[in-house]
Amino acid sequence: MRSISILPALAAAASATNLFVSSYAGNVTTLSLTESNGNYNLTPTSASPECGPNPSWLTLDANRGLLFCLNEGLTAPNGSLSSFTINRDGSLNHVKNATTLNGPVSGTIYGNPSGRRAIALAHYVGSGVSTWYLDGSGQFSANQQFDFTLSKPGPVPDRQDAPHEHEAITDPTGQYLLVPDLGADLVRVFGIDANSLKLTELDPLHAPSASGPRHAAFWNPYNTACEGCTTYMYLATELAGTVIGYSVEYLPNHGGLNFTQVFESSTLGLFRNDRINAPAGIQISPDNRFVLVSNRNSTVFELPNPDKSNSTTIPSDSITTFELQQDGSLVFTQIWPSGGLFPREFSINAAGNLLAVGNQNSGNVAILQRDVGSGLIGEPIARIPIEGNVTCVVFDEEGQRNA
Ligand SMILES: *[C@@H]1O[C@H](CO)[C@@H](O)[C@H](O)[C@H]1NC(C)=O
Ligand SMILES: *[C@@H]1O[C@H](CO)[C@@H](O)[C@H](O)[C@H]1NC(C)=O
Ligand SMILES: *[C@@H]1O[C@H](CO)[C@@H](O)[C@H](O)[C@H]1NC(C)=O
Ligand SMILES: *[C@@H]1O[C@H](CO)[C@@H](O)[C@H](O)[C@H]1NC(C)=O
Ligand SMILES: *[C@@H]1O[C@H](CO)[C@@H](O)[C@H](O)[C@H]1NC(C)=O
Ligand SMILES: *[C@@H]1O[C@H](CO)[C@@H](O)[C@H](O)[C@H]1NC(C)=O
Repeated sequence: MRSISILPALAAAASATNLFVSSYAGNVTTLSLTESNGNYNLTPTSASPECGPNPSWLTLDANRGLLFCLNEGLTAPNGSLSSFTINRDGSLNHVKNATTLNGPVSGTIYGNPSGRRAIALAHYVGSGVSTWYLDGSGQFSANQQFDFTLSKPGPVPDRQDAPHEHEAITDPTGQYLLVPDLGADLVRVFGIDANSLKLTELDPLHAPSASGPRHAAFWNPYNTACEGCTTYMYLATELAGTVIGYSVEYLPNHGGLNFTQVFESSTLGLFRNDRINAPAGIQISPDNRFVLVSNRNSTVFELPNPDKSNSTTIPSDSITTFELQQDGSLVFTQIWPSGGLFPREFSINAAGNLLAVGNQNSGNVAILQRDVGSGLIGEPIARIPIEGNVTCVVFDEEGQRNA
């Protein structure tokens, strides 16, 4: 176990944390965020090119001090998986690279109680899922691969020409792997064999036609994961621009999951906008009370320029916060500027008082304040340009969603 230098953000205490940022231009950049008496400073401290040419996603294994990075291979026939060890100063040492099926865009680590572990990858362009066994030091080896096809294009032919696996997540009990498929309007469900860590495909969730499932987040109201507990799943659809809530029933004998829709809303909440919104990331707040969704392509905010002598405003997309209700419904809380265009992924720190947003088309990372009690996001405390299109950002802390 690695010790991590995170102090609670007490008024008088200085604190420091690192973030990792991936960009389609090729680098994984380490940023250092320091705070002293309420003043924040955000600076790049190192850059690693080994996940090039097109890093699309980062999966942090904070406990073991490892970072996994996916290269989408935008102009290549294949993608790749890279692993790094994380040094105390946040710099990275490259361990291994492997060629994968094309277009990996998301990965998650799963495992069993005796400590055997694997990473599952969702391949958007490659229309598949691959899994890789992990050791504890950053080495990995191929486990399984699933390839999917569509007999005919979906109702949105330009985006649903083929299956497009967009995210890999586990359910709260760790028995199932779920993969939203934007092209097939499905959330694919796999049972995890606890010994071999092999996946078996089970009945999927059929999302609404033409909705384009992209990312999802599970929620247990009492924060306890068990088969009999109430469990909900929230699905962000990219093409329909909605968040859909489902109650999740565990079928007997590890037989799969049964979903019942309990809620649906535009991810813009009460806000009306005639542009085509394309939600991306969805996450539950660390205190288990709110769900946050990023909205892209529906630019509604103009921000003042951080350079006060420059009167040019900065267009911004948004993050919506909803409050989670016991019955699985959501109450709209806030829509707030993400600090740039196309907030593709975001990361909430463990304390819940900071939100880091990777704005893909602005090429920046914005760190926004967040009030833990009300769930309201506030002013940016730092914004930093990153070369290229930013794809993912993650705080180097335990408990991260992509950890
Ligand atoms: C990656 O980082 C290195 C070191 O900071 C820098 O020299 C290089 O220009 C960066 N490359 C890209 C594509 O951003
Ligand atoms: C890792 O693999 C990718 C894709 O094959 C390649 O572009 C990159 O240069 C490799 N990096 C290293 C350090 O081998
Ligand atoms: C690389 O891509 C080709 C073409 O899509 C595919 O057949 C092959 O299996 C991929 N290689 C790996 C290691 O996944
Ligand atoms: C799934 O739940 C529905 C009720 O929402 C029920 O009608 C159906 O039988 C259940 N399916 C299975 C396989 O248990
Ligand atoms: C963004 O909106 C425009 C129309 O305003 C649409 O043509 C385009 O397909 C949208 N892009 C995404 C990713 O939704
Ligand atoms: C990168 O960002 C630019 C805007 O800065 C946008 O036009 C382009 O579509 C983006 N490309 C990708 C691959 O994200």
